[in-house]
Amino acid sequence: MRVLSVVGARPQFIKAAPVSRALRRSHEEVLVHTGQHYDHAMSGSFFHELEMSNPAVNLEVGSASHAVMTATILRRLEPVLLEHRPDGILLYGDTNSTLAAAVAGIKIVYRDGGRPWLAHVEGGVRAFNRQWPEEHNRVVADHLSDLVLAPTDEAMRNLRREGLAERSAKVGDVMVDSFVWAMDRTAAAALPLAREHPGYVLATLHRGDNVDEPVRLSAWLDAMRTDRRVILPAHPRTAATLARAGLVPPANVSFIDPVGYLTMVALEMSASLIITDSGGVQREAYLAGVPCFTVRDETEWVETLAGGWNRLVGTTPAGLAAALRGHDFAKPTAPRAEVFGDGHAAERIVAELEQLHARSSVAPAGPALAL
Ligand code: UD1
Ligand code: UDP
Repeated sequence: MRVLSVVGARPQFIKAAPVSRALRRSHEEVLVHTGQHYDHAMSGSFFHELEMSNPAVNLEVGSASHAVMTATILRRLEPVLLEHRPDGILLYGDTNSTLAAAVAGIKIVYRDGGRPWLAHVEGGVRAFNRQWPEEHNRVVADHLSDLVLAPTDEAMRNLRREGLAERSAKVGDVMVDSFVWAMDRTAAAALPLAREHPGYVLATLHRGDNVDEPVRLSAWLDAMRTDRRVILPAHPRTAATLARAGLVPPANVSFIDPVGYLTMVALEMSASLIITDSGGVQREAYLAGVPCFTVRDETEWVETLAGGWNRLVGTTPAGLAAALRGHDFAKPTAPRAEVFGDGHAAERIVAELEQLHARSSVAPAGPALAL
């Protein structure tokens, strides 16, 4: 089986790594990087640290508006699909790269009439907020896919509601696979800054709504003024606003460059509290057993709210400031359920792909033609 996997943004490298390792044990993988993220700290470092093969192709789309990015990936991916003629295409998560690859993949027909199947990892996840570009990306990817690989029961419920149950399978969350893999390797990864400030708070902010407006970003930083050290590895989007507006963070907030995955997991595991607007970091806080404040009104990862491990503090900096004032940094005592799986999602995904492949009727390899 030849699978063409499409990744493009930081969380997708982390999701794809365990699947890529499992897939390559007995199948061929063509790894395509759209180039949506391109800084070494947002891209190259993950391939190295997660022991992934370098991408076979980089579409080098770079940063652009949603429409331009999506359209450029569509245009550049089509000839790659025709050249490699994969049996199937594997998509991850909810970025513009996911959306574009889903649309490119569903439209491809090979010269002999065959077409690749489409499978979507992390399908069925819904925030029920149509303001977020990610919500549209995941809904479209799910509905175009032949196989939707759901991380949780909650995701399966969403898929059932949308009439997609028959082509969906619950496999667990691949981010658990990567997290477990990283936990064994984090020893040397902790930052001196973290060792110097035991009890530190780890923060990440990167949603456009939170970081694009200097006044708003400044208010978030002000809300983080506490007697604790806050370590904030800044997404380039956040760093750009800070630099553009000449903002100076409060003295207790250490703005640092994005860190590698092993360092991030080490930082998460030793933090007393995590503040974030990231989907991945919310789950990792839960896995690490560290309480989390999510600066949003809703989360697509509702499982993390059980037992008080994750708290939605809303979208106003005042809400975060109040939550921090009232928080004693003690861990919730409620046990955490294994809702995100057991760290073996990747093997299940490969088994599901093998079954899909056996069912589908892709014609033998040959010259291809775009219709
Ligand atoms: C994207 C995803 C989001 C995901 C996030 C992970 C979409 C719509 N959004 O958001 O779901 O949570 O990735 O991090 O696909 N930039 C750089 N260097 C880079 C990458 C980005 O400087 O390597 C800067 C550019 O100024 C760019 C901005 O960050 O315009 C935003 O990047 P983009 O990929 O458009 O969106 P993200 O906010 O990263
Ligand atoms: N991450 C990282 N270094 C950082 C910040 C985040 O390795 O400096 C990892 C984090 O551990 C998680 C993933 O990036 O696995 C989350 O990505 P991001 O927050 O960019 O996107 P989202 O999950 O919100 O889509």
